[in-house]
Amino acid sequence: MTDNAIKHVASALARQTLQDRSLTRPVAGVRPIRLLPWLQVVKIGGRSIMDRGAEAILPIVAEIRALLPEHRLLILTGAGIRARHVFGVGLDLGLPVGSLAPLAASEAGQNGHILAAMLSSEGVSYVEHPTIANQLSLHLQAARAVVGSAFPPYHHHEFPGSRIPPHRGDTGAFLVADALGAAGLTIVEDVDGVYTADPNGPDAASAKLIAETSASELAKTEGTLPVDRALLEVMANARNLTKVQVINGRVPGRLTAALRGEHVGTIIRAEA
Ligand SMILES: Nc1ncnc2c1ncn2[C@@H]1O[C@H](COP(=O)(O)OP(=O)(O)OP(=O)(O)O)[C@@H](O)[C@H]1O
Ligand SMILES: [Mg+2]
Repeated sequence: MTDNAIKHVASALARQTLQDRSLTRPVAGVRPIRLLPWLQVVKIGGRSIMDRGAEAILPIVAEIRALLPEHRLLILTGAGIRARHVFGVGLDLGLPVGSLAPLAASEAGQNGHILAAMLSSEGVSYVEHPTIANQLSLHLQAARAVVGSAFPPYHHHEFPGSRIPPHRGDTGAFLVADALGAAGLTIVEDVDGVYTADPNGPDAASAKLIAETSASELAKTEGTLPVDRALLEVMANARNLTKVQVINGRVPGRLTAALRGEHVGTIIRAEA
């Protein structure tokens, strides 16, 4: 619309605070589109897979290699034991959570570099977060999979609610998978899924595998989990992903089955 040669740009949100939901809903209530609806996101455990070295990495690399003709993958690696060590040193020194988060994130990135190197002959490479944000589809035109760090890039902006960064690999993998509108997220661990108690802990004898649950149900439990608690919080506000599956990557064939939609671990429903 022009008036005296001045161009007015109409904006649906210009005249109101962005905090008034009743006013923003007509504009902001639209469901976000799925950017990469064919993408499968796979989070590989730092501690459960990468820290075990060749014994655990080579079989999962072989399985991923065989999966490439069937799926296009964003493989995200967790941080593992080196991040626990860096947390220990940093906490001892009193470093704030925003200083610890990027240190752990760089360990997750190291694991990603290792995994990408093992798959490089298939055209797979490690890409940094800005590339995942801006050029993932380009990379996935050139290769069937790319590898990145599972940590979300909150770094110095990490929420200060606790001393250990709450948003770690599982949370980061979910946030990016949901934002991209991916077909699924599979979380690869060294246990068959989520149990009622740590199957490697003191209550192992009574621990039972949970076949299916919801993020809100799991959030009510008080024991330890094989996934970040913050994952359950972000799942409550999921926009695209309706579930994630936690599987045992130490058992050959489980990742393949999970990516084919089979129920082979613990399904956590988002119920958004
Ligand atoms: N309720 C539970 N159900 C299943 N496993 C549990 C539970 N509580 C604790 N665990 C333990 O969590 C372990 C996995 O640890 P963790 O999730 O820290 O590893 P990871 O995901 O490989 O690491 P990272 O987050 O660095 O990628 C399992 O081997 C299991 O012993
Ligand atoms: Mg885990």
